[in-house]
Amino acid sequence: MKINIDGKEIEAREGQSVLDASLEAGIFIPHLCSHPDLEAKGGCRLCSVEIEGIEDAVPACRTMAEPGMRVTVHGVKAEKVRKTAMELILASHPADCTGCPKYGKCELQSMYQYMGVGPERWRKKSRSVANDDSNPLISHLFTRCIRCGRCIRACQDLRGVKVLDYIQTNTGIRAGIPEGKSLQEADCRFCGACIEVCPTGSIMDQVKIMKEERSYAENIVPCRSTCPAHIDIPKYVRYIRQGDFDKAAAVVREKVPFPETLGSICNHACEAECKRNELGAPISVCKLKRAAAVNDSGAWKARIRRDAPTGKKAAVIGAGPAGLTAAYYLAKKGHQVTVFEKNEKAGGQCRYGIPAYRLPEELLDREITGILEAGVELKTSAEAETPGELLKQGFDSVLVSVGTHQGVKLPLEGNDLPGVCVNTEFLKRARQGNPFPIGEKVMVLGGGNVAYDCARTALRLGAKEVHIACLENEQQMTSTPDEIEEGAQEGVLLHAAHSFLRITGEEKVTGVELQKVERFYFDENRKAVIDLVEGSNQVIPVDQVIFAVGQKPEGTDAFGLELTHGPYIQADADLKTSMEGVYAAGDVVTGTKSVIAAIAAGRKAAEQMDRYLGGDGDISEILLDPETPDAYIGQAEGFAGLRRVEPQTAEPRERVKGFGLVEQPLTCEEARCEAERCLQCDLRLQLRKPKLWNEY
Ligand code: FES
Repeated sequence: MKINIDGKEIEAREGQSVLDASLEAGIFIPHLCSHPDLEAKGGCRLCSVEIEGIEDAVPACRTMAEPGMRVTVHGVKAEKVRKTAMELILASHPADCTGCPKYGKCELQSMYQYMGVGPERWRKKSRSVANDDSNPLISHLFTRCIRCGRCIRACQDLRGVKVLDYIQTNTGIRAGIPEGKSLQEADCRFCGACIEVCPTGSIMDQVKIMKEERSYAENIVPCRSTCPAHIDIPKYVRYIRQGDFDKAAAVVREKVPFPETLGSICNHACEAECKRNELGAPISVCKLKRAAAVNDSGAWKARIRRDAPTGKKAAVIGAGPAGLTAAYYLAKKGHQVTVFEKNEKAGGQCRYGIPAYRLPEELLDREITGILEAGVELKTSAEAETPGELLKQGFDSVLVSVGTHQGVKLPLEGNDLPGVCVNTEFLKRARQGNPFPIGEKVMVLGGGNVAYDCARTALRLGAKEVHIACLENEQQMTSTPDEIEEGAQEGVLLHAAHSFLRITGEEKVTGVELQKVERFYFDENRKAVIDLVEGSNQVIPVDQVIFAVGQKPEGTDAFGLELTHGPYIQADADLKTSMEGVYAAGDVVTGTKSVIAAIAAGRKAAEQMDRYLGGDGDISEILLDPETPDAYIGQAEGFAGLRRVEPQTAEPRERVKGFGLVEQPLTCEEARCEAERCLQCDLRLQLRKPKLWNEY
């Protein structure tokens, strides 16, 4: 239908409000309480317009367009109502714009500036409702509430959570939680829709969860932005909640070819950023990924990407997670890919650096088979070729992803005694079924997850007493709390905040001398400062010492590439090395990081190499049809208090008897319960941002 606004004819649809039709046609009508995703209730009166044939000004947001309707936006009557309405709103507003965190983004501020109305003339007194920062995640600064009701409509109608409502206070009516309840007591689901739609600084995200270095969207969904591979975590958690494990697995598969490996051993940095930490414990993102992977029927395979052959050849040196990931995506782009691995099996650190009780051999084999099925050729026990030789042999591009497989010893007295070894050799030989002879009493030096891998492996190999000593205190240690706890359950004796002075013994190891650390930190020059407690020395008698204090690349000096910081390969931001056509990615560039970081590096390498080989660098894969999740999440009794669901684990006494899996995957039912705890932060990003007047 056609309607006329201020002399201009525009198109309007049946059932469309005059306001929406006008805004859609690019003609601005002031408005405040309406929101594109909420039902208009018509409270603020700022959208008042005059309509031919109607006596009084009417709200454009509540008036449906009719054929031939003639509308005047800036008529005398409409302007008068609008101006009075704005002055009344401002009369009770604190007018503390410059101190408001929403300064410059506030819709109220934008609107009164547009209208040229200031609060001064009508000001009676500013309301003095105390700001409420007592709830998790959400700041209420209700002095700034203008009673537009958007938050209430978002909470009641859009989400169906029904926590917010109008409440009477001794300073007037405002939005709030009835009966003086906290958000937890009222069963808030902390979805943040109220924050998203609030036009002023009345309801905000707590400042501490908004990090400056992140974009707005990254702050709103911190798990997804923290994941190095940017797996769409809220999306797969939602599918798990719906019981659709196939779709959940497809979401993970869109970004990584190792879902079950990651579900078993990922360092899950995303969980540290999960907003549910503020309510107790984060969503078990990692274990949910494992549940998705083990219940995956492989339906995604029907939609995998397979581009036409390009005739280009790529070589990958090193079949760890970075190299295999790059190979997988390069093959999908139609390139012919060969991976060279010097060990007898592919997998890199996943195979040789992580014990089987965390990552079983068959699991890794299964996922690597999936990668090879994409069309990747794998040559194991392959003599190390140099990138230059491979280019001469006809490969068009080469990726070096050899990882960091050489353990390091600290320059301690006694570090070359029989009975001393490094983590990499110790773990690799255990994995290969050819372990070092194990001592009765073992000391592992280091405070990361690898130290726990060594200590727990030593127990399984028959050591009677296993110690870990590290400079860091328990809070500073880089091992995850799970590892520390599981290690303690199995009997690992932890000496946190201890320096190791020397390894004692003449012919062989007899002990390690430790001294307590008062303080350990890095100064402004990144130099380690260690304050020791005088007189706290003690010798722990042991007959085997394992260094787990770091690892580095080996053999990189033979590659003919520029190196940095010793054996690391110099690569620029695009992963290019000093040799044309040769790229490097993963730990060999960055130093030892996580498996997920290596996978993310592999993805980036594939993008860069594809460009070099004449492609567009787009390795994305869509394994699901797009779906818009339901905005209505409903009520959930006791939501804030829902406890994290933990998987079944074997008894510590039983598990140290061998290398069987310590932890079972969550059952489907357990996974669904755990997924129910998700705050669904991503739903907020579906809500549209109303445009300000100067954006029309
Ligand atoms: Fe229409 Fe508020 S009454 S926008």
